[in-house]
Amino acid sequence: MPNIIDGRQISKDIKSEIAAKVQQLKADGHRVPHLAIIIVGDDGASHTYVNGKINACKAVGFDFTLMHFASTISEQKLIKHIQQMNEDSDIDGFIVQIPLPEHISVEHITEQIAPEKDVDGFTNQNFGSIVSDNPLLLPATPFGIMELIRRYEISTTGKNCVVVGASRIAGAPLSLMMLQEGQATVTVCHKATVDLKSHTKEADILVVAVGKPGLITKDMVKEGAVVIDVGTTRVEDSSKKSGFRLSGDVVYEEVAPITSYITPVPGGVGPMTIASLLLNTLKAYERNR
Ligand code: GUN
Repeated sequence: MPNIIDGRQISKDIKSEIAAKVQQLKADGHRVPHLAIIIVGDDGASHTYVNGKINACKAVGFDFTLMHFASTISEQKLIKHIQQMNEDSDIDGFIVQIPLPEHISVEHITEQIAPEKDVDGFTNQNFGSIVSDNPLLLPATPFGIMELIRRYEISTTGKNCVVVGASRIAGAPLSLMMLQEGQATVTVCHKATVDLKSHTKEADILVVAVGKPGLITKDMVKEGAVVIDVGTTRVEDSSKKSGFRLSGDVVYEEVAPITSYITPVPGGVGPMTIASLLLNTLKAYERNR
């Protein structure tokens, strides 16, 4: 039977460790870390994610500021607010929740964020720092995956790691971390990959970050592989109060029995994203102080 990687528990452990550090900071007479969140518009899922981030700040004792702008705000005005946050020494780190309205370029906005306050790890400078000896602030999702792998003491050195999905938020940075820190042999598959199965079947560690429920079936996975499922797609489910459930990219019921380790959805990679954001905020605070 597989070992189920419990992201909820690891995330709780990390939050307890951070909360203890915050208590110590207070006891020593220091201010506490401060995270600011910018959200634009009224996308329901984004507001749910942001609430999760705010609750996490409250749970560990961080200060937080929420700035909510109407979806009609101009790119220029939003950039002004970002520049103010860059200069505000009371704010250790901040994020701009994605997606943004169509008239605002995510790339323009991201590149305005000071890299030392970019606790999402989205800026080009932080992305590039993955391959340096001294990474600055690492992107939250891949950072969370590496933390799960570390805490479960899963060996990556010399292993075949196949990453399916090359997004800027997950697949691309993770492949670099697996290469750099993980010392793995890395294959990255993407939209244009021919014969996906021929690659996934060779994976000792298979990471799937596409957002297509049902993409990875049992016949595509090697016996004993470690499977990390980053997919979180809302699919209709009338048996749920919310009317939907979250689905990963892996057909869990058939794949799990042949794996050595697997992350469930929900409760695997998802909870780690917020834990990473808190870790990055603490790191930015320590640098700022
Ligand atoms: N939208 C979905 N995930 C994320 C995230 O990790 N950070 C931000 N800023 N927006 C998101």
